[in-house]
Amino acid sequence: MRPFTCLCFLVLLSLLNLSTGKREETGFRICAYNLQNFNKEKASHTMTLHSLTRIVARCHITLLQHVVDPDGEAITTLMSSLNSMESDRYDGTQFQSLSSAMLGKSPDDMQQYVFIWRQHEANLTRQHQYRKDGPFVRPPFVVKFQSNKTQIGDFILVPLHSEPLQAIQEINNLYDVFEEVSSMWNNTNVMFLGDFHASCGFVTRLDRKKIRLYTNSSFSWLIGEQVDTTVTDSTSCAYDRIVVYGQPFLQAIVPYSGKVFNFGREFKFSRAKVLDVSDHFPIEVRLKGSGLLLQATPLTVLLCVSAVARLLLPGL
Ligand SMILES: *[C@@H]1O[C@H](CO)[C@@H](O)[C@H](O)[C@H]1NC(C)=O
Ligand SMILES: *[C@@H]1O[C@H](CO)[C@@H](O)[C@H](O)[C@H]1NC(C)=O
Ligand SMILES: *[C@@H]1O[C@H](CO)[C@@H](O)[C@H](O)[C@H]1NC(C)=O
Ligand SMILES: *[C@@H]1O[C@H](CO)[C@@H](O)[C@H](O)[C@H]1NC(C)=O
Repeated sequence: MRPFTCLCFLVLLSLLNLSTGKREETGFRICAYNLQNFNKEKASHTMTLHSLTRIVARCHITLLQHVVDPDGEAITTLMSSLNSMESDRYDGTQFQSLSSAMLGKSPDDMQQYVFIWRQHEANLTRQHQYRKDGPFVRPPFVVKFQSNKTQIGDFILVPLHSEPLQAIQEINNLYDVFEEVSSMWNNTNVMFLGDFHASCGFVTRLDRKKIRLYTNSSFSWLIGEQVDTTVTDSTSCAYDRIVVYGQPFLQAIVPYSGKVFNFGREFKFSRAKVLDVSDHFPIEVRLKGSGLLLQATPLTVLLCVSAVARLLLPGL
């Protein structure tokens, strides 16, 4: 078999694989999860820790929000759980983490942003705490990653767990964070992620006119208005969001991969067990990988189909 035909079989097989029921999704998964007060006590619950370990292990990079762990014990517990998983199940992946300082305006509500990533699949190359005396209750702890497993290569993550009653102003202020970090690091591949409270009573359709991330069409919102990122039946709100700047970043994302991860359904967990972790669900998006097969364009597929058809049906 000629090499091209051989490659084509591989491409077609991988496509076939994609279309058959339970499949492994391709790409580089970035997740964000509001953990609703993740502290030592919460980390000491075996079931909660186990659920969280499974959730974080699926992702290449995870942003955790509402972590309250001043002495680092809760995150240490989570990291040792992640790094001690049976190696056959997760290919022996090792995880690394980076926590922000305690952020907030009132001493009894201080929270951290925490990034956790697979150390062989991404490098954290920069970090920057946005102005603490600025307009955010929990100013973004901005990081930059490099990964040769992604098509985009280098990208910046801007986390936000907004203060609900200031959500409109804080989301609008993300534009200023964008201007600052994109010029500081000469890179406009910027993704904003987290619990923005960008829905229901906190941000209405009319309010969007006051938010530059909505009015400027260079920003793409990847988690839709209709998505419910909350766990309880009594609320249906798209609080948690992922937004990216610019065409290059948008094109480096697997189309329509922005979604909520309903792990209750996926792992067959009861509502109570889901709520033990948080009242939010995690959200995620997938970046296109840098591998050859992952980039099969429609044209390649067409060429392949015809090459394989010619091989199987020599009469053509
Ligand atoms: C991380 O950085 C090292 C050193 O520059 C590089 O060799 C490696 O390929 C990088 N890892 C990824 C996943 O890009
Ligand atoms: C990424 O970098 C590692 C280490 O430098 C290398 O072994 C690997 O082949 C690279 N992967 C890609 C897709 O370039
Ligand atoms: C900024 O990045 C662009 C595109 O990646 C590059 O062409 C330019 O030289 C960079 N500028 C500086 C000052 O590093
Ligand atoms: C949108 O934001 C980008 C980046 O700051 C800017 O270059 C562009 O001019 C803005 N577009 C509009 C219509 O304001």
